[in-house]
Amino acid sequence: MSGLRWKTVWITGASSGIGRALALAMDEEVATVAVSARSDDRLEALREQCVNVSAHPVDVTDGEAVARCVDAIEASAGPIDLAVLNAGTWALMDAPNLDLTAVRSGVEVNYFGVMNALDVLIPRMLERGRGHIAIVASVAGYRGLPRAVAYGPTKAALINLAEILRLELEPRGITVSVINPGFVDTPMTRDNPFPMPGIVSAEEAAETILTGLKKRKYEIAFPRGFALVMKLLRLMPNALYFRLIRKFVMRRAA
Ligand SMILES: NC(=O)c1ccc[n+]([C@@H]2O[C@H](COP(=O)([O-])OP(=O)(O)OC[C@H]3O[C@@H](n4cnc5c(N)ncnc54)[C@H](OP(=O)(O)O)[C@@H]3O)[C@@H](O)[C@H]2O)c1
Repeated sequence: MSGLRWKTVWITGASSGIGRALALAMDEEVATVAVSARSDDRLEALREQCVNVSAHPVDVTDGEAVARCVDAIEASAGPIDLAVLNAGTWALMDAPNLDLTAVRSGVEVNYFGVMNALDVLIPRMLERGRGHIAIVASVAGYRGLPRAVAYGPTKAALINLAEILRLELEPRGITVSVINPGFVDTPMTRDNPFPMPGIVSAEEAAETILTGLKKRKYEIAFPRGFALVMKLLRLMPNALYFRLIRKFVMRRAA
């Protein structure tokens, strides 16, 4: 296993972008990389390109299907040592143009998609007294950002959730990580109509994530400079934060 501690890894949202790049980066280092998403054709194409990848299509919003998916992975490859809960969706939306259907869909995929996986994984990992859960949130979850009304709150919830899991599960043998990317060049961001400072490729993102996971880091935030700016904004007093964002982000976009 080339020094990696995981035998079986499960990555959701692996049909494109960050998840796909991570599967490719792990392929020759892990005995089984089980990849999930809804697009079975893209998962199959990824599997054909790899040595140790197996495709397990699933819609993460369907809790029963997620349970069956985990059963199938563990039946064929053994216990999941590392689960990277990465499936996600993004919609540009501002408060005056609320679209409740899209908001609900964001919560269903980004938050309940993770919950559906945790509901199956936590009892199994607790019973084994080991396992590693990595949740892909975003630096967009640190503070409220303009036009992120359907996205930011889901990622803020995941960051909060990861802290709870870390506190409660780590003493019982389960490692918990939260992955907070800045901008990554993937199908998700390709049509964004605004500048994306510090944007990195999916391959660079995957390398950074893999390095952090190998070190069992709690938070993997990148790229370093942009993540640092976002962290400083989190520490800033509210009045100053609102003034800065209105001046440097919202006026420029107007
Ligand atoms: N790109 C960025 O700048 C950025 C920044 C911060 C955080 N992130 C986060 O990183 C993660 C990966 O995003 P990405 O940039 O790689 O975007 P992406 O290329 O659009 O990938 C999203 C993945 O999620 C899957 N997915 C969406 N809905 C699903 C569902 N209901 N069930 C199962 N899989 C589903 C998609 O596959 P199917 O459509 O085939 O189901 C796809 O594989 C997301 O959680 C995103 O919020 C991205």
